Amino acid sequence: MSEQQSVNRQTFDQVMLPIFSPAEFIPVKGEGSRVWDQQGKEYIDFAGGIAVLALGHCHPSLVSAVREQSEKLWHVSNIFTNEQALKLAQKLTSATFADRAFFVNSGSEANEAAFKLARRYAITKYNPYKTKIIAFKQAFHGRTLFTVSVGGQAKYADGFGPKPADIIHVPFNDLEAVKAVIDENTCAVVLEPVQGEGGVTAATSAFLQGVRKLCDENNALLIFDEVQSGMGRTGKLFSYMHYDVTPDILTTAKALGGGFPISAMITTEEIAKTMEVGSHGTTYGGNPLACAVGNAAFDIINTEEVLNGVEKRRELFIAHLNKLNDKYHVFSEIRGMGLLIGAELDGKLLNRSKDILQASAVEGLMMLNAGANVLRFTPSLIISEEEINSGMVKLETAIGKLLK
Ligand SMILES: Cc1ncc(COP(=O)(O)O)c(C=O)c1O
Repeated sequence: MSEQQSVNRQTFDQVMLPIFSPAEFIPVKGEGSRVWDQQGKEYIDFAGGIAVLALGHCHPSLVSAVREQSEKLWHVSNIFTNEQALKLAQKLTSATFADRAFFVNSGSEANEAAFKLARRYAITKYNPYKTKIIAFKQAFHGRTLFTVSVGGQAKYADGFGPKPADIIHVPFNDLEAVKAVIDENTCAVVLEPVQGEGGVTAATSAFLQGVRKLCDENNALLIFDEVQSGMGRTGKLFSYMHYDVTPDILTTAKALGGGFPISAMITTEEIAKTMEVGSHGTTYGGNPLACAVGNAAFDIINTEEVLNGVEKRRELFIAHLNKLNDKYHVFSEIRGMGLLIGAELDGKLLNRSKDILQASAVEGLMMLNAGANVLRFTPSLIISEEEINSGMVKLETAIGKLLK
């Protein structure tokens, strides 16, 4: 027996912390938007590793970047800097509003740094009571105790003892609700321009513009968590670029490394300078291996060819979903931006997203949900038309069988 086959899905239930319930098959190889499991069965990938695989599986340029860097220098720690991190920081800052970057390894860590920075800035610049963070119901910002407490889903945050204080949650896209709670003691408003985990809901322009104005009036920082919506996912490098609203701090992860763990928090010079040597830190963050992949991914994603291709692909997905809905009447709404698409379930499939994921896997399709009632599509930004068509046939078959 090969080493690969000596473990199977049951092994997960024996040796892993029981916090996930992964699919019944185990993927072993991927190429572009196709994946193969232990038995050699082929799948089309519409999940893209939850919006991580912006360039699909094993993109040749990313493979070369890992290979080349892995033969030069993997890790030096924060005691030394390295060329790959500096280049990636230059790219991120010159393409955005930001002047400074800080690299870590996950979305949670980037947000943790963002929230700490916002509090630090308010406390040092204004007063020690300016610590209130306004966040949104259904928001998701990560799983450290601070980030999960800023997130707006009690089911993830409760049951772990006392939470960081002075965090308030209001309904998303509700400007009046923000107005009612923002005051001179608010240090930051934190939001995902397109809520991902919470059900794929895009902010309205009026809401983002209104929140920006309220932040300015109250000397509060505006933090955009673009961990899921960033790096080309919506057809622009970051989704804030659609809205004509600039944040003070932005976090990015997922697609930043195209599958290699890396994340970043970026901000302005004025805000960054409230931090000093020793204020915050990380051992792995900005290591040359991760940043080499980040650089390669950035150079491909931040091109007209990739960014402009997102909308065309979205249109194809939406056309298929509308057709499927005309036939089966299973969606009440199809929403999102770019290739972050949500289809809210209705009728006989109400709250049955998990069943659809399982039925899709049987047909050879990797799907994703966002809660019990939303099907989520976060494929590679360069998925081919043929792969979209073929995946949608599989989804239709899966849904047809469930409805029988
Ligand atoms: C918007 C957003 N923020 C933060 C996170 C947390 O990222 P990570 O799981 O890499 O810590 C996620 C993960 O899904 C996310 O979607």
